[in-house]
Amino acid sequence: MTTLFLQSEIKNPYPFYEKMTVENPIYWDETNKIWAVYSYEHCVEVLKNENAHIPQLPFNPNLNHYALEIISNLARLSNGVQHQIAKETANILFSYMKTIGVDSILKELIDNEISQNQINWVDSVCKKLPVLTVLKSFDFDTQDSIFISEKISSFVKIMSPNKTLEETILLNEIAEKIYTITSKHISKLPFYESLLSQISTSQNISLEKTLSICTVNLIGLFIQSYDACRGLLSNALLQIISKETLFKDKNWIQKMIVETLRFDPPIHNTRRIANIDIQLNNITIKKDDSILVVLAGANRDSKKFENAIDFDFERENNSEHLTFGIGGHMCLAKYFSVQLTTNVLYYLLKHFKISILENEIEYEPMINARSPKAIYISLYN
Ligand code: HEM
Repeated sequence: MTTLFLQSEIKNPYPFYEKMTVENPIYWDETNKIWAVYSYEHCVEVLKNENAHIPQLPFNPNLNHYALEIISNLARLSNGVQHQIAKETANILFSYMKTIGVDSILKELIDNEISQNQINWVDSVCKKLPVLTVLKSFDFDTQDSIFISEKISSFVKIMSPNKTLEETILLNEIAEKIYTITSKHISKLPFYESLLSQISTSQNISLEKTLSICTVNLIGLFIQSYDACRGLLSNALLQIISKETLFKDKNWIQKMIVETLRFDPPIHNTRRIANIDIQLNNITIKKDDSILVVLAGANRDSKKFENAIDFDFERENNSEHLTFGIGGHMCLAKYFSVQLTTNVLYYLLKHFKISILENEIEYEPMINARSPKAIYISLYN
């Protein structure tokens, strides 16, 4: 097994991570020319190191103005001062989100898609609910919400380094529409003036540029909520069903979700590139070397988590998992995501008796995320 593999091709990657954490916590993969870091301590060190930069996407001359504006201003993809501005913008936007109950969105999705008491949980709920919740919490109207939530699965490809010409053409089309919808919508929000002045004053940038950074980072919230939240809603449901327990309270569900984030996380790794030579446990990671930070490996490090290979929702430090990252680029939605997943699964377990309709779960062909392709379940009141 190599450091880079598609989750769809590996039945259980965790024994490999556990072995690497003990035997090769900082490993140079000669084939892929990448450092892979597995131990908790060293993953934290890389993520907190300001000279471990987010890798830049290769220049793609076929992307249009809107797509380029998006990839060059997203917090998730930027470094240095630009990152500080983008991150502050994303944080301010996030703080303006209205709290939205998920019950009505979930009920509508289930009612629309259930057939003979069966539903594909991934397609019908996990791929739609997080982004619809974010859209609703910013008061997007139904038509725009439907457009964005339907396009988001194709649009997240904008974050990937390799895009075919066909994908690029589609991305350009969606980028222009999503950018136009979002920019128009922001200017109608009641907090528009104060949002813009908060950012342009603190960062001393023009109002026009501020509006663009706000638009892009609001789009960033749609993008980020799609892949990772989908995986958590799926993986947490699988863990809960596998425990075959009777319905428990919200607190129990939340603990199960936090332990799922450690034990079977939706995001397995993230990447950095050394901006200068970096010393890590007496190893020199040379300037321009690529680094794979194996968050899912750190989560199974027995130096950090006692009996790390056991699913134990009562373990005291489960919430110290690295699934949301740490340091400058840490996820700004960690509490939001746990809350959202708790509310969704609470509603589901409270209203239905659930059983799973397949034995073997297949995973998406992704390197950085472990996300089920489909989960067919039956639901009875
Ligand atoms: C289970 C759900 C989620 C997981 C596991 C997750 C995970 C992560 C991780 C690992 C990072 C850091 C990446 C790195 O350091 O390279 C990150 C960043 C980020 N996340 Fe999340 N995320 C989740 C949900 C969300 C949601 C729902 C939103 C928005 C509503 C969001 C917004 C962001 C943003 C804007 C960043 C970039 C922060 C920055 O670079 O400064 N995430 N997320």
